[in-house]
Amino acid sequence: MKICHYLLSTLVVLSLTLFCCQSPSSSSKTSTQKVDSLLSVMTLEEKVGQLNFLVGDLFNTGPTVRTAESDKFDILIRDGKITGLFNVHGAAYTARLQKIAVEQSRLKIPLLFGADVIHGFKTVMPLSLAEASSWDMEAIELAARIAAEESTAAGINFTFAPMVDISRDARWGRVSEGAGEDPYLASCIAEARVNGFQGKALSEANTLAACIKHFAAYGAPIAGREYNTVDISERTLREIYLPPYKAGIDAGVATVMTAFNELNDIPASGNTYLLKDILRNEWDFNGMVVSDWQSIGEMIEHGYSADSMEAARQALETGVDMDMMSEIYIEQIPELVKTGKLDVALLDNAVRRVLELKYALGLFDNPYIYSDTLREKVTLRSTEHLTAARDIARKSIVLLKNEKQLLPLHSNYKKIAIIGPFGNNKEDMNGSWSFFGEAQHPVSVAEGLRTAMPNTSFIVAEGCNLYNDKTDKLQEAVKAALQSELVLLVVGESAPMHGEGASRADIGLPGIQQRLVEEIYKTGKPIVLLLVNGRPLAIEWVDQHIPAIVETWTLGSEAGNAIADVLTGEFNPSGKLPMSFPRHIGQVPIFYNHKNTGRPYLGDYSEPGAERVYRSRYRDVQNTPLYPFGYGLSYSTFTYTNMVLDKTSMKNNETITVTVTISNTSNRDGDEVVQLYIRDLAGSVTRPIKELKGFKKVHLKAKETSTVTFTIDKEMLSFYRADMSWGSEPGKFHVMAGGSSDTVLKQEITLLP
Ligand code: BGC
Repeated sequence: MKICHYLLSTLVVLSLTLFCCQSPSSSSKTSTQKVDSLLSVMTLEEKVGQLNFLVGDLFNTGPTVRTAESDKFDILIRDGKITGLFNVHGAAYTARLQKIAVEQSRLKIPLLFGADVIHGFKTVMPLSLAEASSWDMEAIELAARIAAEESTAAGINFTFAPMVDISRDARWGRVSEGAGEDPYLASCIAEARVNGFQGKALSEANTLAACIKHFAAYGAPIAGREYNTVDISERTLREIYLPPYKAGIDAGVATVMTAFNELNDIPASGNTYLLKDILRNEWDFNGMVVSDWQSIGEMIEHGYSADSMEAARQALETGVDMDMMSEIYIEQIPELVKTGKLDVALLDNAVRRVLELKYALGLFDNPYIYSDTLREKVTLRSTEHLTAARDIARKSIVLLKNEKQLLPLHSNYKKIAIIGPFGNNKEDMNGSWSFFGEAQHPVSVAEGLRTAMPNTSFIVAEGCNLYNDKTDKLQEAVKAALQSELVLLVVGESAPMHGEGASRADIGLPGIQQRLVEEIYKTGKPIVLLLVNGRPLAIEWVDQHIPAIVETWTLGSEAGNAIADVLTGEFNPSGKLPMSFPRHIGQVPIFYNHKNTGRPYLGDYSEPGAERVYRSRYRDVQNTPLYPFGYGLSYSTFTYTNMVLDKTSMKNNETITVTVTISNTSNRDGDEVVQLYIRDLAGSVTRPIKELKGFKKVHLKAKETSTVTFTIDKEMLSFYRADMSWGSEPGKFHVMAGGSSDTVLKQEITLLP
């Protein structure tokens, strides 16, 4: 390895010498001047090459358009036909490709290397939805920082993350990749992730360009079906879906990715309202916009563009700078410009944004800054990173139910059965969107527990297969349960069951896992059920029958250790759900910040007569979720006793201070996320029954009482009014606080005219 590093360094010095003599970066000009002088010498073909972004050979997340010749990338790079490659990695490999660009291509423009570094790199962090359950912005930022440290050492300078699409529909497979259903929480997380990836300055060797995606409203496909049509009101778009993208932009994100979906009849990659009116004009975003995989070409399938030429023109005119995988820009734009159908100034603007990104990343000064074999060797899966991953993972676990004091497990158990397809499973702990994590690396649940509880013996039984309905493993599992004092049932979804292209119409336990749970239940043994999954599941039977349930999502490299920390009580769980769990699939989409309707059903389900029938409700299932947004238990017990306001009315330029008293009534130190919600009781448009406006994670020692303070200002009372202007309206509001969206404390305030 040392030899390789030495060789690489030599190459770097040599090539830099060559490059610097001839590149526009050698002068003391500003980057804008440098870009302009570079643009002035570029041919039409070279310009278009800077907009052409292709996938490398290492892995694909969509259909590819080229068949391989082994040196195809070398040729494309040398000829200036690509701006970079994505889903490639490795310091030596990326340096080799970069060398071709900066030594053999005419203009020596360095390459971008992009990748879906979504939740960790070689150190795999918890799934994004899992991390969101921590409500811990420092932890989330740290996870992104570590991912940046590792991926930049391996040559990557551009991550297609964070994905900030809100989703209220757990059937959609990509809820796993986002931060859940709430715009406020998701906005905080978007900011933390952008800061984590981009660090203090993009030009540093351990930071990379982040990408807010998928713009916009990709998380609202009809019926939760992947890539389906999105048809929502402008108010819903602006109040629910847009805030996290905006938060990412405000945090200084370098790039934005368009979405596959159409939004209100126009595909996102040609949507002027989204890309021009909102992104560029309203939000003043000057960074680079990249399409999603072939999404420019797919505008033909959508029935929006008549042909490739029209698709290219529409996307570029709308402001999509870079074409990921359609190859439509490179094929069509020269002709469009030559025939006067496209203004060359538009092309120049797109190229300018790409070149500016490359300057900002420091690539013109040192094209090898991100390809560092020595740093790669010491950084990837370092002890420090794995320790942090374990801590972030345990913070991401949500305790859903804990009856009969089953948890934490006491150390006197002689024999415990670990049953289910995920008990001994390593690969699925990496979760969806974890291409860089290796299948054999994660710590399994069984491994974690064996280390944590050396005096207990564990019997492991798979119980069933995930992908067929064969019952041949059931009996062995029942036998294992009968031989043990306690059963840990580890059930859920494999990694390919969530993520892109993984919508599910039935979000119960896949395969015959429900049957497995019922068979084990019949043994009468105490059961702790661990969920391994990438979305909220409809598990009402489980909730009704199993005394202890722990949501572990997928927790990455340190999964088993983090789970053992929580099960043994080494770590007191503190996670809270970022998405509601339905009782039944028929309730989906289900979300806490819904409207009241004219006939709300708040009453008792046993109430007879018309009062109960002609209400907004189902005949067969309750309205409420199984577990609400913001919910999660601890081994400590917290009580909320008092909410004090410094005044009960305010003018628009004033604030109200809310103080909430919270006590840890247990004998255990613990963390609690105190949540603040507000409801506007009457307005020029109807408002949700509550909206999250603030939260604070507090640590309370055993028996400690403390207060948490929030300040209500006019922003918290504002919304898009009937005329779509942003602002507040005088009137009454409810202020609510508690440990979940099912809040306990409530007070009324008035906003004065
Ligand atoms: C996904 C993007 C991803 C891209 C590149 C697409 O299929 O929608 O989120 O960044 O592939 O892998």
